[in-house]
Amino acid sequence: MSKTALITGITGQDGAYLADFLLRKGYHVYGTFRRISSPNFSRLDFLNITDRVELIPFDLLDQSSILYVLEYTKPDELYNLAAQSFVGASFEQPIATGEVTGLGLTRVLDTLRMQSPHTRFYQASSSEMFGGSNKPLNENSSFKPRSPYAAAKLYAHWVTTNYREAYDLYACSGILFNHESPLRGIEFVTRKITYHANMIKMGLTEKISLGNIEAKRDWGFAGDYVEAMWLMLQQDRPEEYVIATGKTHTVKDFAEKTFEKLGLNLEDHLEIDKKLFRPTEVDVLIGDPSKAIKKLGWNPNKTSFDDLINIMVQSDRELLSNSSKDSLSTDRIKEIPHFKE
Ligand code: NAP
Ligand code: GDD
Repeated sequence: MSKTALITGITGQDGAYLADFLLRKGYHVYGTFRRISSPNFSRLDFLNITDRVELIPFDLLDQSSILYVLEYTKPDELYNLAAQSFVGASFEQPIATGEVTGLGLTRVLDTLRMQSPHTRFYQASSSEMFGGSNKPLNENSSFKPRSPYAAAKLYAHWVTTNYREAYDLYACSGILFNHESPLRGIEFVTRKITYHANMIKMGLTEKISLGNIEAKRDWGFAGDYVEAMWLMLQQDRPEEYVIATGKTHTVKDFAEKTFEKLGLNLEDHLEIDKKLFRPTEVDVLIGDPSKAIKKLGWNPNKTSFDDLINIMVQSDRELLSNSSKDSLSTDRIKEIPHFKE
């Protein structure tokens, strides 16, 4: 009989790639979506897998829906990817972020403990929890969250550890550094850049507004990172793992390379908008994936920084070329200003 997996947040970037990965492994995949006026399965459509997964309505804010989903699925593996995942928005919606990203995890884990304790559990922890460092961060590095999002993720991280120790659950946290793809939300900086650069190339807009372009991130490809999530749940013992490439680049590097690939000069099109700076910033993130390489056999070098940019630039070029001109507008990508002053 095939194994079953439940993915919360299957409509998001990682949810879609993980579903695709698990289907290829022969899993029966259940995925949760929010009951909103028009549920959006575009990422599953992009990977041609919408009809191959079983979609169940669910909300991290609603204990009953969590109970229902767990009773119905009783999965072998549960991947908790659902979250309010945008750091910028967490400054404007700190309470909702805490409810969804922090408490939501506790609702899931406590229901799991009572309904399906044999299920192997993965929690999507984040490098944001570290708060940044110039030195490579590993599983023993200390945490200093610098946003409501990071604080909520750290709470969820510790609850996962606690439930593992207190109730002997197979509960793992993957501390993932930034990972991107053509399916990345348009408000995150990499996708914002590849999308805008293509718009500029096509003459549909002239400028791109960015905030702190000196921030540095350790960027990998989401398609590679979902394999690490799965590997964590195949081990003898549940543990925490850092997943990263071990290399870091500035936002400016990412933007310059993207514009260069399209034969454009970033300087000619860039506007720095102070409103896009965060009240508190994580200046530098770089991870040390040694443990994942050694224990999981995970490969951080499958997709290089350059390849990642190529994949995203190419995908946005195709997306924009196939869209009707009337529907294209950078107005779709409204940024929420951060009211620091
Ligand atoms: P994403 O694209 O923003 O996807 C988030 C998912 O959570 C979406 O499916 C969203 O549903 C769902 N969701 C939001 N609020 C919910 C609620 N109240 N109830 C149920 N579902 C809800 O995020 P991602 O990039 O795939 O990341 C996946 C997870 O990894 C997140 O927990 C994120 O915080 C974490 N993480 C990401 C990275 C990264 O670099 N991507 C790094 C470290 C950790 P809708 O489609 O309805 O909005
Ligand atoms: N979004 C955005 N928009 N970020 C900008 C901009 C802009 O116009 N200009 C500069 N930045 C800077 C941000 O200040 C930040 O330092 C960096 O670009 C990356 O921002 P995001 O792409 O929004 O990602 P993030 O690093 O804040 O968070 C992502 O990675 C985390 C893991 O480290 C998200 O995926 C989180 O969910 C994830 O946990």
